[in-house]
Amino acid sequence: MTGSFPTRGRLITFEGGEGVGKSTQIAFLSAYLRSLHLEVVVTREPGGTSKAEIIRRALLSGAFKSFGPLAETALFAAARIDHIEKLIAPALCKGAWVLCDRFMDSTRAYQGANGGVDPESMRWIEAASVGETLPDLTLILDLDPAEGLLRAQQRRQSDETPDRFEAEALSFHLALRRAFYDIAVTHPQRCRMIDAAVPVEDVAQMIKSCINERFFNSGTKTSNREA
Ligand code: TYD
Repeated sequence: MTGSFPTRGRLITFEGGEGVGKSTQIAFLSAYLRSLHLEVVVTREPGGTSKAEIIRRALLSGAFKSFGPLAETALFAAARIDHIEKLIAPALCKGAWVLCDRFMDSTRAYQGANGGVDPESMRWIEAASVGETLPDLTLILDLDPAEGLLRAQQRRQSDETPDRFEAEALSFHLALRRAFYDIAVTHPQRCRMIDAAVPVEDVAQMIKSCINERFFNSGTKTSNREA
């Protein structure tokens, strides 16, 4: 068959604890990819579509905390279903590079490893919501949670309170860092840990090198999709 269809785009997800600098790095990477004349779509989770943003507001307000982590997992999945169907899958189909601030690994780390949702329910919900739309590359930004929480606090407006997850104890955030580390170790093909404690320009450079190595310098090895 000849190439009358555009090549599938790439899904790159950014993960990590609070205040690790994902949005700054997404801005750097999108500028780099655009300089290569690639179409880039920047989005986030929970959210990214109008329906998913409604779920985001409810989740981050803490209104569902008392329902427990399984119910929160179901809500994150509901938001993700709409996000994939309306935004991510169509963008990938037309060949765009989708940069997503958090995705399924946040559910694994926050609700699974930290929230204690049983692995079988996690797998079922993830398979049913994410399906084949797995990330090509997941960049896990790693930072001491004490520093991350401080950064998150500094970027909040004076009248803003910490959201549902930021407000958790330091022990929660330390366990979260460990959970992301475990994800990276379990999925070395798909995930790359990035040291986010160095200056932002250096983090951006590491990410750029990683992208070049994975997608542009490696001959036929252009996809690293694995769950
Ligand atoms: P956000 O303000 O986007 O946080 P950050 O800037 O740290 O990314 O809020 C998203 C919050 O939702 C964040 O605390 C992580 C949490 N979250 C989950 O618990 N599970 C999920 O599946 C996702 C996508 C996010």
